Amino acid sequence: MVKKINKAVFPVAGLGTRFLPATKAVPKEMLTIVDRPVVQLAVDEAREAGIEHFVFVTGRNKAVIEDHFDKQYELEETLRSRGKLEELRLLESDRPSAGQTSFTRQQEPLGLGHAVWCARELVGNEPFALMLPDVLIHASPGCLKQMMQTYDSHGGNVIAVEQVAPEEIHRYGVVGIGKPAGDAFEISGMVEKPSPEDAPSNKIITGRYILQPEIFDKIANQNPGSGGEIQITDAMIQLAEDQPFYGVEFEGTTYDCGNKIGFLSANVAYGLEREDIGPQFKQALKQIIAEAGGL
Ligand code: UTP
Repeated sequence: MVKKINKAVFPVAGLGTRFLPATKAVPKEMLTIVDRPVVQLAVDEAREAGIEHFVFVTGRNKAVIEDHFDKQYELEETLRSRGKLEELRLLESDRPSAGQTSFTRQQEPLGLGHAVWCARELVGNEPFALMLPDVLIHASPGCLKQMMQTYDSHGGNVIAVEQVAPEEIHRYGVVGIGKPAGDAFEISGMVEKPSPEDAPSNKIITGRYILQPEIFDKIANQNPGSGGEIQITDAMIQLAEDQPFYGVEFEGTTYDCGNKIGFLSANVAYGLEREDIGPQFKQALKQIIAEAGGL
C-alpha cells in the first residue's frame, strides 16, 4: 500500500517578469483564464485528484492569493441580499474548507527548488503533489488524477511529461525513457536544459510532480544552478539515485500561461468551449480575424 497523497504545494512566489506591468501589483497566478484565476484552475485539478490540503508558497504582493481562497463576508452577504444565489454558490463551491489551506513565504525568489523547500515544514514527512499553476493543463480526467493512477500502482516519484519539438528541448528539463511501467515508464535519467545532441529523449518535465519528502534534503544540498536559481530538477536528479521516478505522458493540452502566447491561447480555448459565451465569442473572434486580414 502506498501512502496517500493529501497535500499539494503551489509555488506562487515568482516575479512574473514576462507579464510586467500587469504583475507589478497583481501576481501572475491571479491573471484569469476567462473568469477563473490560473491558480484556481490548479486548485480545481488538485481537488479532483483527491488533494485535501493546499500549501501556497507566496512572495511579495501575494496577499491577494490568500484573500482569493478566503471567505469574503461582505461580498457574500451582499450577493445573498441581492438574490444572486448562483454567484454565491460558485464562490462557496470554489473555496477550500476551513483549515485546508496553508501559506508560507519565500522571502526572495531564489528559484523553484527553493520555493518548494520553503514548504518543507508544512508538508512534513509525507509524499506530496507539486503543481506549477502557470502550467495550465486542460485534461479530463485532470493531469494530476492521471498521475495518481501510476502512483497508486508503483509508489515512488511521478512526473508529468510531454513531447516537444527538438528545437524546443534546450528550454526544459528532459527525461530519459526506461522500462514501461503500466501506462507510464521508468525514468532512466534527467537533464536540465540540454542541447539537442545531449537530450536523452524529446519528453520534457511539465509542471506536475508527485514527490517523496526526501526531496527536501536534496534541495537543501543544492548550489544555485542554471540562471543562479535553485532548481528542482537538480534535486530530483540526486533523489533518482535512491528512489524510482516514473514518467506519465498524460492525455491533455498544455498552455504555458507564464508566457503571453500560452496565456492568450488558453483564454481563447477555454472561452470557445464555454456554453454561456462560446458561440458569441466565436463570432467575435471570426470578426476580429477577418478585420485583421484573415488567417
Ligand atoms: P517561472 O520561472 O515561470 O516564474 O516559475 P517567474 O520567475 O515568476 O516568471 P518570469 O520568468 O519572471 O516571467 C514557475 C513557477 O514557480 C514559481 C512561480 O511563481 C511559478 O508559479 N516560482 C519561481 C517561485 O515560487 N519562486 C521562485 O523563486 C521562482
